[in-house]
Amino acid sequence: MVKGIVPAGGLGTRLMPLTAITHKHLLPVYDQLMIFYPLKSLIKAGIKDIMIITSPECENDYKRVLGNGESLGINLSYAFQEKPGGIAQAVGLAKDFVGKDKCVVLLGDNIFEDDITEAVENFKNQEKGARIFLKACSDAYRYAVAEVKDNKVISLIEKPKPEDAKSNLGQTGLYMYDNQLFDIISTLKPSKRGELEITDVQNQYLTQGTLEYEEVKGYWIDAGTIDSLYDASKLIRDKKKE
Ligand code: G1P
Repeated sequence: MVKGIVPAGGLGTRLMPLTAITHKHLLPVYDQLMIFYPLKSLIKAGIKDIMIITSPECENDYKRVLGNGESLGINLSYAFQEKPGGIAQAVGLAKDFVGKDKCVVLLGDNIFEDDITEAVENFKNQEKGARIFLKACSDAYRYAVAEVKDNKVISLIEKPKPEDAKSNLGQTGLYMYDNQLFDIISTLKPSKRGELEITDVQNQYLTQGTLEYEEVKGYWIDAGTIDSLYDASKLIRDKKKE
């Protein structure tokens, strides 16, 4: 079985003052609240056991909107990150929830046009390791930048200087892991920005030789800034009116 994890914490400072009232993941993106986009991607791929990891002050907002997931036909549970400590730290809180299963992590502010069903199936058939999803973009240095050769990732560097970026392939916020994930997270040390970096997890799989990747074909949006939030709403509206 594959379980779903949606990290939806963070302070949302880049979206102030919109996030003065609630979490960025509960802000609207055109006609839905942001959190519904990653949830619906997972649900469409057949993932029915999902954990949202957020911060305690917004617990009631999430529960008011999503409850236990019944209205979406899923089992939704929650874990709370006391202080923002990075995506890997948030994901680490899902250890007991994931148990002995594999998991798919989809960041709460990431919106994918692609149906991820096939990718999840590919991952189920992957004997071991992890799988990441790369998107060719002009500002890949804002994310982690992957260098690939012969269908393998050979380096993955979190937010390099623009002039040091080895390619235009940015790491999106969709990651798939086997059960080594939690052992790997337990070995991580905080980065310069004081966070446990999800890219450091990927790099351990890379060293093992078990990091696979796929390229994202449709649009991908990280809706974490005022402009990308606006662009996301506009894009989704335009696509719906097409
Ligand atoms: C995070 C990851 C980065 C990833 C990006 C996708 O960045 O660290 O590797 O490519 O999300 O949304 P952050 O939002 O923490 O800056």
